Parts: sequence; structure tokens; C-alpha cells
Amino acid sequence: MKRNKSLRPSISMLIGILVCFMLAACGGGGGGTVGTTAGGCGSPPKLAKKDHYKVGFSQNASNNPWRLAETASIKSEAQKHGDTLVYADAANSGDKQVSDVQSMIAQKVDVILLAPITEKALVPAVLQAKSACIPVILIDRDVDHTLAQPNKDYVTFIGSDFVQQGKRVADWLIQATGGKAKIIELEGTTGASPAINRKKGFDDEIKTAPGMVLLASQDGDFNRDTGRKVMATLLQAHPDVTAVYAHNDEMAIGAIAALKAAGRHPGKDVIVVSIDGERDALNAIINGEEGTSVQSSPFFGPISFQTIDEYASGQKLPDWIVVHDLQFTKANAVQNLANSF
Ligand code: AHR
Repeated sequence: MKRNKSLRPSISMLIGILVCFMLAACGGGGGGTVGTTAGGCGSPPKLAKKDHYKVGFSQNASNNPWRLAETASIKSEAQKHGDTLVYADAANSGDKQVSDVQSMIAQKVDVILLAPITEKALVPAVLQAKSACIPVILIDRDVDHTLAQPNKDYVTFIGSDFVQQGKRVADWLIQATGGKAKIIELEGTTGASPAINRKKGFDDEIKTAPGMVLLASQDGDFNRDTGRKVMATLLQAHPDVTAVYAHNDEMAIGAIAALKAAGRHPGKDVIVVSIDGERDALNAIINGEEGTSVQSSPFFGPISFQTIDEYASGQKLPDWIVVHDLQFTKANAVQNLANSF
């Protein structure tokens, strides 16, 4: 017993030394950050001003035109700035995205641009980057603010107002249907900030028109083929549907295919509306199969690299840098085709 007692302090001392050693090693990461430990590099970590940065970009997936357009925008802007880009595609996996960010921390990037797959999955990675003195800028999707906060755990969120996007679609649909519709809603990936907030914006707004009835609302994972399959199933349960609201264009295009396969006439007996503004949706609007698509711009390159420069200059940034979006209808779809993706 005595022996054990005398050993105890030495073991905890050893553990303490090990933890200190690990923290120091982490704190030394992020070549562009100021200070050497989590406590000493700011909250969020500061970014030293440099001519060129090593920028990590963690993309959550690459399985649709929106994601590809976003990645192309970031890559092209990194090149314009002469910055080195450390890029990783999480292939739709929260676990992979966490390890992608950990790998960027190990590679000592100066700053991380992160498009988190869901609001909760990437919180540990955001906090680990903070501990390693590497500032994180969230782009296109946000995290849960009860778990990680802007201007504290990460620098800022750059992205669209998803609630407004849902509300704008609902307003257009109420107008187009005279306030009477039986709606199927195809939701984006469960737990992703655009899915949560596009649903909120739309569902709250249609409640203002008593003739707008939500028949069913189900996850289509922001994916074209999943949207098609979910629509085909829901259509059997709800043949009286007169409108489809999809949280993104990919699912709307899938829904249009499902409607046609079931002998329905999208644009005539079922109005389809969605969000993003991708080329296929604009073409569907032009040929009359889709009603409207509210834009969600994927062109994050210029604003992200401008934000990096502003942050490194010591500028105080807002918690949320709002991206402003257009809305596409028959009136302007042709003019906007050239800039679509
Ligand atoms: O986070 C933005 C959303 O994610 C886009 O609207 C959607 O198409 C994408 O998958």
C-alpha cells in the first residue's frame, strides 16, 4: 500500500508532463498563428499577417454540382492569392470530415475553411483546431451555437440566410397557388443547418395561409436519386399532392423524374419549387417543369479569402457574414443560365 501511495504522485506527474508536452506540440501548430498554447493564441485563435497562407479547405461531399462549384471557387481563389490549399473531401461522412480536419491540424495549416456536414458532427474538430491555435472559418453551413460559438471557438460563419430562403419559396408558392396547395417537402440532410433552417422558414410561412397543407416531409439527403426515390414512395401515399418543396435543386430534379414516371405533369398538375439555382433547375424553370428556385450561392472563394485577409489584419468580424441570394423564375432564368453551375 505504502509503495502504491508513493507511486501515485509520480504517475500523475508523468501524465501531467505528457499532457503539457502534447499541448505544447499542438500549440506549436498553425505556422501563422500567434502564441504557442491554446490559452495564449486568442479565442478564437489569431492569424498572423502573411503574404501567403497554407489554407485548409474541408469539403463535406462532392456529389452534386453545387459542391463542385463551391470547391472550384475556393481552389481558383487560393490560386489567385498564391496560397497553398490543403483540400479534403469527406465524401458525405461526418467521421471522415472530423479526421480530415485533424489531418489539416497535423499538417499545421494557418487557417481552416470548413463546410461542416451537420451542425453537431464537426464541433469536436472545431474545438480541436482552436486548441491547436488554428482559426476556423465556417463556410456555407453553420454549427450548433450551443456547442461552439462564433468569435470564440471559430472566427465567423459565412453563408446564406437559410430561413429566408425557405420563406421566399413559401411566399412564391402561396402567390402561385392562390394560397391553396397540398405539399410534399423533401428535406436536406438531417442535422445540416440548411435543412433545419430551410424547413423552419418554409413551414412557418405556409402556416400564414390556411389553405397550404403539408402532407408529408421527409429526408432526401440533398441528393438527386434519394429525392427521386423518396418522392416516388410519398407519391403513392399522397396521390393528391399539388406541390413539392425540395430543400435543394438536386432533389427537385429527382422529384420531377419521379412525378413523370408516375404519369404526373410537373409544372401543370404539381408545382415544384426549390433552392440553389443550379443549371438543371434553371432549365426546368425555362421548360415549365419547375416554378422557382431561390439561389444559394456556392461561390465562396472571393468572400472566404477576403475574410482571411481581414481577420489577419486584426479586423473584428461579425458572427455571421450573410451571403445575399437572388431568386430565379421564368422571368430571369434565361439571363442567369450563363452564370449557373
Ligand atoms: O449547404 C448548402 C447546401 O448544401 C446546398 O444548398 C445544397 O445543395 C448542398 O448540398
